[in-house]
Amino acid sequence: DEEENLMERPPVVTIMGHVDHGKTTLLDAIRETNVTGGEAGGITQHIGAYQVEAKGKKITFLDTPGHEAFTSMRARGASVTDITILVVAADDGVMPQTIEAINHAKAANVPIIVAINKMDKEGADPDRIKQSLTEYELVPEEWGGDTIFVPVSAKQRQGLDELLETILLVAEVNEYKANPNKRARGTVVEAELDKGRGAVARVLIQHGTLKVGDAFVAGVYFGRVRTMVNDKGRRLKEAGPSTPIEITGLTEVPLAGDPFIVFEDERKARDIAEKRTVALRQSEITANTRVTLDDLFQ
Ligand code: GTP
Ligand code: NA
Ligand code: MG
Repeated sequence: DEEENLMERPPVVTIMGHVDHGKTTLLDAIRETNVTGGEAGGITQHIGAYQVEAKGKKITFLDTPGHEAFTSMRARGASVTDITILVVAADDGVMPQTIEAINHAKAANVPIIVAINKMDKEGADPDRIKQSLTEYELVPEEWGGDTIFVPVSAKQRQGLDELLETILLVAEVNEYKANPNKRARGTVVEAELDKGRGAVARVLIQHGTLKVGDAFVAGVYFGRVRTMVNDKGRRLKEAGPSTPIEITGLTEVPLAGDPFIVFEDERKARDIAEKRTVALRQSEITANTRVTLDDLFQ
């Protein structure tokens, strides 16, 4: 039965925080890459989904552009994250999007780890950040609370091991599990129309294992997995829980936050996609709320 097949899966960690507090730079440092350098104006436009390995354990990261994409995903009911890393720049402090991120994490009942970033900067004042965050019930352990604060410098790559260790600790306590031995289910984190490849979607697999050739529904569209690559561009034949992948084989472009669900065959997937389309029209709900139709195929 389902219970017996539950297996440990990597934690899914969302990096959130105010604009320019260093979310992407921090993830670049963790991944030892340079996504920030390739961003127009240094502004994240997409949700990046990546997997890294630390101490022999995998961690899946989602980088968010400011807060908007996450807000719209949450508005559609998509819940993809296990842990939130709240990035606060030590020289800037708690800002409007810091507070919004806290509210999102709390509403989703997701534990928050605070990364006080830019510790290398003159004027970095971690105590001021800690003090401000007590107002939002984020009280550091050393002050008798239960929130872990990790001082880091994404730029100088300091404090990263501590941050990764903290994530693994929280993951160990919470024991995130999923059954890999069933049809895949996940969430679209972003999708677009590619000139050469057609509709392309980045999907986070949450339950089960996705295989090339699987028939699926993504939002109100159906498809069959034609190709699947991981975040390093490597071709995969299958992908298990907590794996972020990019797939082709969609008929249309779904929305971020749309559910992604595999069915036994293409006929069934097409049928479900049609039902969802009809239900969407009938109830006149906007595309922004389409995930609420999830219960159609429970
Ligand atoms: P958005 O995606 O636009 O919300 O920004 P972000 O939070 O991803 O910030 P990003 O990584 O783009 O960094 C913003 C700026 O802060 C860049 O110029 C980075 O080089 C700089 N920065 C990030 N981390 C550090 C740090 O640890 N120290 C210093 N000195 N600068 C940093
Ligand atoms: Na930025
Ligand atoms: Mg960014």
